[in-house]
Amino acid sequence: MSRIRGKYPWYLPGRIYDFALGGLLRGFRSRVAAEVGASGLYPWLDICCGTGSQFRNLTPGLGYDSAFGLDLNFNMVRYAAARTPGRPFVCGDAACLPFKAGSFRTVSVSFGLHEKSPAVRQMMMDEAKRLLAGDGRLVTVDFENPWNLKSSIGSLPTRVIERLAGGDHYRNCQKFLRRGGLRAFLRESGFVECSRRDIEAGSISIVVSRVGVPPSI
Ligand SMILES: C[S@@+](CC[C@H](N)C(=O)[O-])C[C@H]1O[C@@H](n2cnc3c(N)ncnc32)[C@H](O)[C@@H]1O
Repeated sequence: MSRIRGKYPWYLPGRIYDFALGGLLRGFRSRVAAEVGASGLYPWLDICCGTGSQFRNLTPGLGYDSAFGLDLNFNMVRYAAARTPGRPFVCGDAACLPFKAGSFRTVSVSFGLHEKSPAVRQMMMDEAKRLLAGDGRLVTVDFENPWNLKSSIGSLPTRVIERLAGGDHYRNCQKFLRRGGLRAFLRESGFVECSRRDIEAGSISIVVSRVGVPPSI
């Protein structure tokens, strides 16, 4: 373990991501943590956790000890673990999660939906539904189509970042927005919104939702 800690805090893609976006994302991290802390819904699984920064600087004593991160990229998982000592991180596929049904009361995903293909995105939501206990909540952070002038202006830097990401990432993001962004995606995936916070800077929303009751045939 000490060997991993010694090496992986310097995993370059992780360092670059945290350096470039860490400050910008800090507000989102604390809002997500506050949502989960206020609901007290643990255990909490953060899928597509990337560098694991969602779990840094958490207020102690709010049950955050039963919070887990999961990412597909093994090096990123090692980096996240090295940067967040004591926190469990798992390498796995969010579209095929290695946990039993009903084993989490919060599943979160930040900026991990817009870039996926529609099929993978849907599989991720099916897995989130499977994992959530009856009273569980899904906390999502992702892009919305701008809803006013400020959010239109606020969306410009994030659209530039997406354009620079290029390839499938960019094309999938375009599809995600054309279909109606996070709001439409959650509805189509069978989630019902409990609360949302729309942030004009970036045209981004933080949405807490629960699994909806499927319509009777
Ligand atoms: C844009 S980053 C977001 C990271 C983090 N949630 C954040 O808010 O900064 C997307 C992350 O999703 C991970 N990822 C991509 N496909 C995945 C999959 N099928 N299962 C789990 N993680 C995946 C990538 O390795 C990457 O770390």
